[in-house]
Amino acid sequence: MLSWLDVVLRPLEAPLWWLGAGTAVWLALTALHRLLSGIRVWVLGNGRLVSPARLGQWAVVTGATDGIGKAYAEELGRRGFSIVLISRSQDKLDEVARAVESKYGVQTKTISADFTRMEIYHNIAERLQGLEIGVLVNNVGVSYSYPEFFLEVPCLDTFIDNMINVNITSVCQMTRIVLPGMVERKKGAILNLSSASGMYPVPLLTVYSASKAFVDFFSLGLQAEYRRKGLIIQSVMPFFVATKMTKIRRPTLDKPTPERYVAAELSTVGLQDRTNGYLPHAILGWVTTSLLPSALRTSHIMGLNMSQRARHLRKQKTGVPMATCMDTLPAHLLPLVMEEFPQSLLAEAAAECVCRAVQREPRLRCQQCAIIQEEDEEADGTELEQDQAHRCYLRTLESLRRSTR
Ligand SMILES: NC(=O)c1ccc[n+]([C@@H]2O[C@H](COP(=O)([O-])OP(=O)(O)OC[C@H]3O[C@@H](n4cnc5c(N)ncnc54)[C@H](OP(=O)(O)O)[C@@H]3O)[C@@H](O)[C@H]2O)c1
Repeated sequence: MLSWLDVVLRPLEAPLWWLGAGTAVWLALTALHRLLSGIRVWVLGNGRLVSPARLGQWAVVTGATDGIGKAYAEELGRRGFSIVLISRSQDKLDEVARAVESKYGVQTKTISADFTRMEIYHNIAERLQGLEIGVLVNNVGVSYSYPEFFLEVPCLDTFIDNMINVNITSVCQMTRIVLPGMVERKKGAILNLSSASGMYPVPLLTVYSASKAFVDFFSLGLQAEYRRKGLIIQSVMPFFVATKMTKIRRPTLDKPTPERYVAAELSTVGLQDRTNGYLPHAILGWVTTSLLPSALRTSHIMGLNMSQRARHLRKQKTGVPMATCMDTLPAHLLPLVMEEFPQSLLAEAAAECVCRAVQREPRLRCQQCAIIQEEDEEADGTELEQDQAHRCYLRTLESLRRSTR
């Protein structure tokens, strides 16, 4: 005798069989497609596309004197591109330019520019005029010196301006300058350094993460607009790479050297509009976006960043000041910080910061180096800037005092 369940299920037997078979075929085809795409990107690669013959003679790299930018400059030089290097410090630019020229026998140009400033683009455009630019690497970027709640970020107003100018405005403005020539020649590639932090929200690095999400969306939108003109615009989203920014000294398989990362990344150009650039990072990207539920991911990242923040604050309390705020202070106010903290460990850290800031702002000199500050009306800025800088300075002193109590 048939049970009531048999009676209900029997008519559904054939449709359910087809549904199951269809699902199995779909999953198998998806897996096969992923496997073949993976082999295409990560095994075969697109190594020969990024060459002067295919794209144009010159490559422009922003933030080219350290880390990932320097590795791009060297790898593109190795491939025969003439290189325009852009960063703040002329000494470091000269050093990298000399190394690239002597190693690979290519021509170089250097442009010293501080991307926190808005007025630099006219000069950059003039210096790039007439060059056949085949590759633009929008690499320059800044991050937090330690994870922090938005309202607790030292010198928040200056910090916001700097982060947006360096991470976002530079990408749009450099693209504005370089893109017309590429459109005219119907060839060229723009590689925009976003970050894995732009793939999902990263609490306590919120402004950085959001700025990198901007870079990602900007790249994808632009690629859709200009694909038919023969251009490649790629969003590059690395996880950790061992550079000054991440303070990782010992590279590992998942935290590669910039050279290793860039060599892998350039093989993905033309194959992936959005890439993690390096196989172990692509696996991390897949795990964190496809396998982890977003609420769990966000709370896990929050936890990691909270413990990093706590470590940082503990170090400050035990007398190893990080002097983070001074790094973002206007350079002409930094010598005053030195006066406030003449003998302590803090002064040493401040001196380092002053010197770093002075490198960026060659018109100003550090008292610690016993060189007198030059008078420069422009450097003092408008009244508004001074007022803003002054408030920022006072808050710095306050936070330094709190940390040494
Ligand atoms: N490292 C990572 O793990 C990682 C992960 C994801 C994404 N990224 C992204 O990759 C890019 C490069 O990162 P990185 O780790 O190589 O950084 P880095 O080691 O700190 O190097 C930054 C470069 O930018 C230049 N620079 C910094 N501020 C500047 C400014 N205001 N104006 C002009 N140049 C400036 C620096 O040279 P000067 O100091 O001489 O000016 C240096 O050449 C960034 O966009 C970053 O967000 C990095």
